Amino acid sequence: MLARHNPQLNKHGELIHLLSTEGLSREILTHILDTASTFVSVSDREVKKVPLLRGKSVFNLFFENSTRTRTTFDIAAKRLSADVFTLDITRSSTAKGETLLDTVANLSAMAADIFVVRHSESGAPYLIAQHVAPHVHVVNAGDGRHAHPTQGLLDMYTIRHYKKDFTNLSVAIVGDVLHSRVARSDIHALTTLGCPDVRVVGPRTLAPESFSAMGARVFHNLEEGIKDADVIIMLRLQNERMSGALLPSSQEYFHNFGLTQEKLRWAKPDAIVMHPGPINRGVEIDSDVADGKQSVILPQVTFGIAVRMAAMSIVAGNEA
Ligand code: CP
Repeated sequence: MLARHNPQLNKHGELIHLLSTEGLSREILTHILDTASTFVSVSDREVKKVPLLRGKSVFNLFFENSTRTRTTFDIAAKRLSADVFTLDITRSSTAKGETLLDTVANLSAMAADIFVVRHSESGAPYLIAQHVAPHVHVVNAGDGRHAHPTQGLLDMYTIRHYKKDFTNLSVAIVGDVLHSRVARSDIHALTTLGCPDVRVVGPRTLAPESFSAMGARVFHNLEEGIKDADVIIMLRLQNERMSGALLPSSQEYFHNFGLTQEKLRWAKPDAIVMHPGPINRGVEIDSDVADGKQSVILPQVTFGIAVRMAAMSIVAGNEA
């Protein structure tokens, strides 16, 4: 039987696009994390730049709102010395009916080297990757509920930074897992990196049993789901992706699944609390936890710069 082609890899097995953590080997994931660790100190230098993408043009195409991902991709590309162009989608010709592929073809004609793409439609970055010239690279910055690979990788970087080894960890992903591209990218990465206990925790409507097919254990009770966990990844309720009423009320949700200091005691005493952001205080997480000493939510954002530097330099084949 022929192996299914992975559109992220060239015929030599090298990463040329970063579209998903699914289908990437442990070696590739670890290589991205190791490369990121070499970039962390760049932020502490007086001149916060390395010349790896000098002369390259990075186009940020964010068809959906973003604070963290868009800004940290922008910073990462500039720290790699690339020329960075961020399209204002609301003022672009997509507002006049131009198709996604026509927009990309026109930007390619301006000598783009890397497209960073966020889109509400699952698969949009794959479509672009299929149509760009071989020297052009696509990095998925989040597509629909499908994948958010650089968030998944920065989450892995954060976990490795604080916990060192994936092979003895219990990681609980709590909340609106159903609509979460972050959860999917995290689960693929965690299982590939050897994490033996990945848990998905939430109400039945938002944490369906089908996640067990991805290698996660599914819980519908917060105490059982985070009991003795080393890492808790809290997720936002993604109302913009929900159709129909999947929850009685945000107050009841907070009562049952919101993380408070009291409930955090169910996890290990040294458990870290993560969140991809944006956080909704008092809905999925209490301020005392979000700002507490076990929270690593802001370090996640900082590590995201180094991880995105690693992703872009690796896909472009311009590593140190
Ligand atoms: N984590 C994340 O994707 O945040 P933004 O939507 O602000 O980019």
